Amino acid sequence: MSVTRDEVIAALDQVLDPELHRSIVALGMVGSVDVDGTRVAISIRLTVAGCPLKAEIQRRVSEAVAALPGVEGVQVRLDTMTDAERAGVRESIIGGPRRDSPFAAGSRTTVILVASGKGGVGKSSITCNLAVALAARGHSVGLLDADVYGYSIPRMMGASQQPVMLDDLIIPVESHGVRLMSIGFMTADDDPVIWRGPMLHKALTSFVTEVFWDEPDVLLVDLPPGTGDVSLSLAQLLPAATVLVVTTPQLTAQRVARRAAAMATRVNLPVVGVVENMSWFVAPDTGERYEVFSGGGGAALAADIGVPLLGQVPLESDVARAGDEGLPVVAARPDSPAAIALAGIATAVAEAAGIPKPAAIPLQAR
Ligand SMILES: Nc1ncnc2c1ncn2[C@@H]1O[C@H](COP(=O)(O)OP(=O)(O)O)[C@@H](O)[C@H]1O
Ligand SMILES: [Mg+2]
Repeated sequence: MSVTRDEVIAALDQVLDPELHRSIVALGMVGSVDVDGTRVAISIRLTVAGCPLKAEIQRRVSEAVAALPGVEGVQVRLDTMTDAERAGVRESIIGGPRRDSPFAAGSRTTVILVASGKGGVGKSSITCNLAVALAARGHSVGLLDADVYGYSIPRMMGASQQPVMLDDLIIPVESHGVRLMSIGFMTADDDPVIWRGPMLHKALTSFVTEVFWDEPDVLLVDLPPGTGDVSLSLAQLLPAATVLVVTTPQLTAQRVARRAAAMATRVNLPVVGVVENMSWFVAPDTGERYEVFSGGGGAALAADIGVPLLGQVPLESDVARAGDEGLPVVAARPDSPAAIALAGIATAVAEAAGIPKPAAIPLQAR
C-alpha cells in the first residue's frame, strides 16, 4: 500500500504555521509534493528566508507526513517565497486594507490595560504572569508592551528576536504561548528610547494597527507607570478596553494608584479591579509571615474606587528570579504560593472582564 499525493496534502493541511496559526496549505507555503513509493519529498516556501521558526516548521511537516501509513521517508526542503507570494499571504490573513484599529468596539478581543501609579510595584511581572496563565488555559493571548521608555517584557518573557515582517504586517514574537510586541524588539540592547509625544503616538498606533494580533481572546497591555501621553493614546486606540490597577499595600503607592484609576475614569474606561502585589513575605526558614509594606493598600484602593480586589501576590524571590530568567513564575514554579495566587488572579480577571471560556484546551497544557 502506498500513500497518495492527496493524502500527503491532507496531512499537510493539518500543519499550522507556528506564527500565523493557519494551515501551511492555506497559506500557500507548500511548494511541491513528490511521492515516490514510500518516500515523500516536499518543498516548503517560507515567508522569509531567516524565519526564526524554520526548524519548527520542518519538524511539524516531517512528523505529520511520517505518521501517514505507507510513508517510510520524508524529505523536507525549505526555500523562500517571492515578494508577490508574500503579499498574497498577507492578503489571505488580513484580506483587504488595514483597519484603523482591530480592537475598536465590536472586536471579539477583551482588552485589558494594566496600570499602576508608580513604577516598581510589579505591574510588568503581573502582566506577564497573567498572560502566560491565560495562554496555558487555552486562551489566545496578546501582550503589548506599551511601557516604551521602560520596556521589560522581552526580558521577562525570554524573547529577544526581531519580529518577522510580512509585507507591511508585523508578526508578533511568540513566547510561552503569548504573542508579544515591544519596542524592545526593535532597539539594540539597552539603547534608550528618546521619543517625544508624536513619535510615541505613532509607535503605539503601529503596535496596535500594524501588528498581526489575529483577534486574540485577550490583549493585555503593560502601560508605563503614571498617567502620561501613552495612556491617553492607548485609550483612543483601544476604546473598548478595561483597566486593571496594580498597587502594593503601601499607603503612598495606593494614593498614587488612585490617580491611575482617575485617569481611566477621565478617558471613559472602566476599571475591572485591583491587584495587590508584594502583599507579604513568608520567611522560608521559619515560615513566619511578614507584612513588609504594611497598609492594606489593595483593599483600600478597591473600596475607594468601588471595584473588587482580585487578588494578592506575596513577595517571593521566585517571582523576581523567574522574571530575570525569562520564564514567568506561573510556568517556572507553578506550585509556589505566588504562582498559585497569580493563577487565581488570572481566573478572577477572566471572570470580571468577561473573557469567554476557551473552546479547547491546547495539548501542551493537558
Ligand atoms: N511578588 C513579587 N515578589 C518578588 N519580586 C517581585 C514581585 N513582583 C515584582 N517583583 C520584582 O520587583 C521588580 C519590579 O517589578 P516590575 O514587574 O518590573 O514592576 P513595574 O512594571 O511595576 O515597574 C522586579 O525586579 C520584579 O522582579
Ligand atoms: Mg514595568
